[in-house]
Amino acid sequence: PALARGYHQKVIDHYERPKNVGSLPKGDVDVGTGLVGAPACGDVMKLQIRVSDDGIISDVKFKTFGCGSAIASSSYMTERVLGLSLEEAGQIKNKDIAKELCLPPVKFHCSMLAEDAIKSAIRDYQTKRKTASQARSEKI
Ligand code: FES
Ligand code: FES
Repeated sequence: PALARGYHQKVIDHYERPKNVGSLPKGDVDVGTGLVGAPACGDVMKLQIRVSDDGIISDVKFKTFGCGSAIASSSYMTERVLGLSLEEAGQIKNKDIAKELCLPPVKFHCSMLAEDAIKSAIRDYQTKRKTASQARSEKI
């Protein structure tokens, strides 16, 4: 289709059948939420992870208000991070995503959104955990 011209098939696939769309309960202590925006275009991405006690990402969901490349980047990111440790997930670079999806340079900021979103979800989870364990130790 003319609309898809110039886009790699992988982008189209993720755009048409995005993986892991949805939300996790933000209030759960084992859920980290990342909400980021792209100043260049105003698009917004929410990415959430659920983390098991041994620090492995056991569930992941996203919602993206944005272009096809941003949707494809977040969909791909959710597939990549499932089953990874927080440390491994935090090391995924937007370059890796852009390369995998063959994004053109003008779309690099779309994949940057996915890198920012996973980092911000990890930070949110870690902050929550710290607060929870402080609250526990204060009670003791
Ligand atoms: Fe927002 Fe890309 S500029 S959809
Ligand atoms: Fe803005 Fe893709 S995220 S154009």
